[in-house]
Amino acid sequence: MDIEFVRSRFIKHFDGKTGNVYASPGRINLIGEHTDYNGGFVFPGAVDKGIMAEMRANGTEDTVMAYAIDLKDRVDFKLSDPNGPRASWARYIYGISLEMKKLGVPVKGFNIAFAGDVPLGAGMSSSAAMESCFACGLNDIFGENKVSQWDMVLAGQATEHNYCGVNCGIMDQFASVFGKAGCLMRLDCRSREFEYFPFKPDGYRLVLLDSVVKHQLAGSPYNDRRNSCENVVKHIAAKHPESKFETLRDCTWEQLDEVRAEVGEEDYKRAKFVLGEKDRVLAVCDALNEGDYEKVGEMMYKTHEGLSKDYEVSCEELDYLNDLAKENGVTGSRIMGGGFGGCTINLVRNDLYKHFIEDAKTKFAAKYGHEPKVYDVVIGDGSRRIC
Ligand code: GLA
Repeated sequence: MDIEFVRSRFIKHFDGKTGNVYASPGRINLIGEHTDYNGGFVFPGAVDKGIMAEMRANGTEDTVMAYAIDLKDRVDFKLSDPNGPRASWARYIYGISLEMKKLGVPVKGFNIAFAGDVPLGAGMSSSAAMESCFACGLNDIFGENKVSQWDMVLAGQATEHNYCGVNCGIMDQFASVFGKAGCLMRLDCRSREFEYFPFKPDGYRLVLLDSVVKHQLAGSPYNDRRNSCENVVKHIAAKHPESKFETLRDCTWEQLDEVRAEVGEEDYKRAKFVLGEKDRVLAVCDALNEGDYEKVGEMMYKTHEGLSKDYEVSCEELDYLNDLAKENGVTGSRIMGGGFGGCTINLVRNDLYKHFIEDAKTKFAAKYGHEPKVYDVVIGDGSRRIC
């Protein structure tokens, strides 16, 4: 993204002065979906697309003047206003400011203009990119960079929970803050330990196909999925008072079967997907260590099936993109991110790539009246100050 583009708007919309520029990426996730809030493993990486913001303290006690460049929308609000702004994009700025204040950062009034090239609603975490970009800026401008990277991740997640109505896990904010060019990261969401995995699959590439079906997690059944998982844990815990059960990570297949009748088929299926996904992420780690990409792909297809049939977060268009991948001999393909629209992530052999993309575009357009968007994945760096 172009710094001069953001800077020229910042200068024009405010008092002609420049500020500091920060950038944070969106993310992909190779495997490990809906496992983060269940204490499991995820395998994300930051992408080369994200949010860029120019920010500057404006000398007021608590007035924020914000301009969303892409939307051409200006909103001013006070941090002391208990309701905050109504515009959904401005709520991310309001929410992260209050969360950073809770962490001891003396946030005062500031001006901010931002733009993004991470596609909205495609399941690539444009919202986490905003939260971590703004957190990075506030930490630098008002907090002497004393807030740790992990605390910024948690502040971004708390923004979603407390101001945006999405009870998300920590994967997206983690990937956006900690991303590293060329590397995927395996994160254990229970212990928060993680490691970087250099990802250069010889002979393959990763590509996203965006169904352009709107992905909107706020007020969506995303929170219902989380409630189902928590309900299953509650029932298992009640049967085993001698042990500690915090999330589905602590539960075995046998324990899940024990509560099947009482939790009902729907919650059972949700938990079944999560337990299977935990095993699949570990299988993918082994396969990556052995350079066995065919095995990685096999796990991706299994994940898609589980997300579609058991977790029920797919839609017709995403299932169709998955079928097209299979038909074209693509190594692995699945829904990526929260679901309910957005993208599939595809692991494709180089020699099949061109034909697959053309075939998918033609057949998808014939059925749904528009082509899917195609994004080649480039794994980039996490949140940072640009200048
Ligand atoms: C959304 C959430 C994440 C995670 C994914 C599904 O992106 O923000 O915390 O739960 O869905 O894996």
